[in-house]
Amino acid sequence: MRTVRAFAFDAYGTLFDVHSVVAECRKVTPEAEALSTLWRAKQLEYTWLRALMGRYEDFWSVTDAALRFATRRLNLRLDPAQHARLLEAYLRLEAYPEIPKMVEALRGYPLAVLSNGSPRMLEAVVEHTGLKPHFAHVISVDAVRSYKPSPGVYALGPQRLGVPREEIVFVSSNSFDVIGAKAFGYRVCWVNRAGAPLDELGMAPDATVSRLDELPKALGL
Ligand code: 2OP
Repeated sequence: MRTVRAFAFDAYGTLFDVHSVVAECRKVTPEAEALSTLWRAKQLEYTWLRALMGRYEDFWSVTDAALRFATRRLNLRLDPAQHARLLEAYLRLEAYPEIPKMVEALRGYPLAVLSNGSPRMLEAVVEHTGLKPHFAHVISVDAVRSYKPSPGVYALGPQRLGVPREEIVFVSSNSFDVIGAKAFGYRVCWVNRAGAPLDELGMAPDATVSRLDELPKALGL
């Protein structure tokens, strides 16, 4: 097994809880969980469709469009200020509480965020959650104008970190991202918080944890 020299983390769902928008959703509907779930599902679906069509728009536009669709599907009539408040909740997502323990245990390794998020969104959320000092690189897909699981996106990790892909551990809670990263050639750890089954795409992560602070032990560090 090659030495681990760096870590790259997915952002949404891995470091930051996308469903922390539920509190804001509750202000506009009693079906807050349904809105949050549909919003997230459509957001990811739009990234896949835009990448396949070669019609990139940044993640802020995609997140905005997904919210418009989700509110229409649930027959919610939001005024522009309510819509804007919901969208802006993405800039203030909560970080998972075990992260300080994890970054302490990984001290000495360069850590990167590698995400679909636009540069402005990622900058805002790492600042808001106080994680900025811990991540040497905050890498957005915007540099290649495509989305995960496009190999060109994953290639940004070794380029920016200056470390070969086999020596970077890519960490994600999103199983499509786990498989995309594995297909690219990273060493991969899946954060499977919900005990979900793995997608049937013929690839598996090198390690699986249920919380981020289990990472060092799972990798034998
Ligand atoms: C991210 O790239 C997949 O949303 C996820 O942050």
